[in-house]
Amino acid sequence: MSEQLIIAIDGPAASGKGTLARRLAAHYRLRHLDTGLSYRAVAAEMIARGLPFDDEAGALECARTIDLGDLDRETLSRHEIGEAASRVAIMPEVRRAVVELQQAFAEKPPGAVLDGRDIGTVVCPDAAVKLYVSAAPEERARRRTEEILSRGEAADFQAVLEDLKRRDERDLNRTESPLRVADDAHILDTTDIGIDAAFQAAREIIDTIVDRS
Ligand code: DC
Repeated sequence: MSEQLIIAIDGPAASGKGTLARRLAAHYRLRHLDTGLSYRAVAAEMIARGLPFDDEAGALECARTIDLGDLDRETLSRHEIGEAASRVAIMPEVRRAVVELQQAFAEKPPGAVLDGRDIGTVVCPDAAVKLYVSAAPEERARRRTEEILSRGEAADFQAVLEDLKRRDERDLNRTESPLRVADDAHILDTTDIGIDAAFQAAREIIDTIVDRS
């Protein structure tokens, strides 16, 4: 096995990939990066500067200020920041700047678990392990609604579902690095299984790959 283990996890919003990524990182003692937070950080900086979301030059300036070691999950998890992030994430220059930071993060020993939309396809195309985590939109909306409610915020299932579908549409159909399954990715459908079963399934896939190398 090489010195470095990179686990790339992609999938749509609220598919369970973030929770899975955190558990895998703890289990294999790797660093973890939720790459969605990097686009959220760019969006949050734009909001702080009062910039409109179609200002590409302004977005690029904001992208250059972000520090991947200092992302505040709690603030950045806010729903409206996710919506803004998916608009910022369609900008090619912003993506290039952010991807460079993500690659530098991944390459530091002993490796890392990165989760997002384009990890196996663009950010870490040579990752030893690639997982694609999916789940039916209704199940993802149910999970996201619960998550928002558990933070003490208001959430309506139908509105969350519509929002997720709109976000999927944007993530799947953009020209720059759309969400797609990498050719060599293992698909994990979590619609009918909980996080423990998904974690077990992922471990089996990873251990087989690591043992072989
Ligand atoms: O996973 P999330 O909801 O935190 O992501 C926010 C937005 O960022 C999402 O709509 C798509 C974008 N994103 C991306 O384009 N590429 C990634 N690797 C991660 C997120």
